Amino acid sequence: MASNSFGDIFRITTWGESHGKAIGVVIDGCPAGLDISEDEINMALARRAPGKVYTTPRVEADLAEIFSGVFEGKTTGTPISIIIRNKDADSSQYATIKNLLRPGHANYTYIEKYGIFDYRGGGRASARETACRVAAGCIANKILQHYQIKVVAYIKSIGSITVNHLPESVLALQTATQLSPIFCPDTIACDLMRAEITKASEAGDSLGGVIEFRVEDLPAGLGDPVYEKLEANLAKAMLGLPATKGFEIGEGFTAATMQGSMHNDSFENAQEGIRTTTNRAGGTLGGISNGMPLLGRVAFKPTSSIKKAQQTVDLAGQAAVFQLPETARHDPCVAIRAVPIVEAMCALVLVDALLRNRCTRLG
Ligand SMILES: Cc1cc2nc3c(=O)[nH]c(=O)nc-3n(C[C@H](O)[C@H](O)[C@H](O)COP(=O)(O)O)c2cc1C
Repeated sequence: MASNSFGDIFRITTWGESHGKAIGVVIDGCPAGLDISEDEINMALARRAPGKVYTTPRVEADLAEIFSGVFEGKTTGTPISIIIRNKDADSSQYATIKNLLRPGHANYTYIEKYGIFDYRGGGRASARETACRVAAGCIANKILQHYQIKVVAYIKSIGSITVNHLPESVLALQTATQLSPIFCPDTIACDLMRAEITKASEAGDSLGGVIEFRVEDLPAGLGDPVYEKLEANLAKAMLGLPATKGFEIGEGFTAATMQGSMHNDSFENAQEGIRTTTNRAGGTLGGISNGMPLLGRVAFKPTSSIKKAQQTVDLAGQAAVFQLPETARHDPCVAIRAVPIVEAMCALVLVDALLRNRCTRLG
């Protein structure tokens, strides 16, 4: 299986399966001299971890162990290797469904492609792999913090409920998101979303959601104009996450309904430099950051594993009914746990662009 690496200069390679002994990530290209500890990575992992409200009850400790690349609390410039052991993998849940194609899941396409599939929890297709991205994203985020760049992601909508009120400042937005049990900074919308999730869950069903991300204090000039456009790399990063179905930057699909006079952002000479008076573009022009906040959205489908019976076929092509065991453990809305993962992917793309940008011009 190819393609387990992401990034160019700040490059991560992840490995491991949902129900194997461990998962892990190797980070190549991290600059030397960055302070980093296992505790910091574990705090980032705790935000993504299962076992919380409205997420799968799989209780995985998610403890990162740094095996290389860090000496006396600082990165050495050599590959950083991180391992997270799998401890709460219950494979028995999958015994009754191992010969059935799972509606909305990856086993049919894996079997078509490789001829073999680890049915226990989805193997490599499992979102367990995203813990590695969060571990790497934690290190990428520390580099961004070194340059005062702030990344925040939050729940924008779940089912039919959309956030109405967002704090203005990025710090207030980060705090409100942290305080919410579902990473939703609008407390009124949060309560409505929770009620909607409970309703869907009690009916044996699931819900989708949209995550919005915002990056502030990003300098102008990141990204390249043709094949490494900043928004194209962000789109690839986000659509590479399990269960994603859409990506937008700035006004996104709404831009297609506007006229040029409505959509164009006018320039002004602001205190902090040339800026635009509005930000419909979402922080990039011509594939390059323009100094405005980077703003985008990622759509997540409803969790495919639901308690309701579904029509399917078995591996021999015979009609069958797909019914998860009563005790099966699944997120009723995967978008919630995906919030820290979206932040991590954002940080990985931006650090890569930031490091690449250091060889752009002479002066
Ligand atoms: C954080 C996170 C948790 C997930 N948890 C589940 C889950 O509990 N049950 C499930 O069926 N899918 C879950 N998924 C989604 C599946 O991994 C994904 O839908 C599946 O591998 C098929 O891939 P695709 O949706 O990208 O086509 C999760 C996704 C994310 C991002």
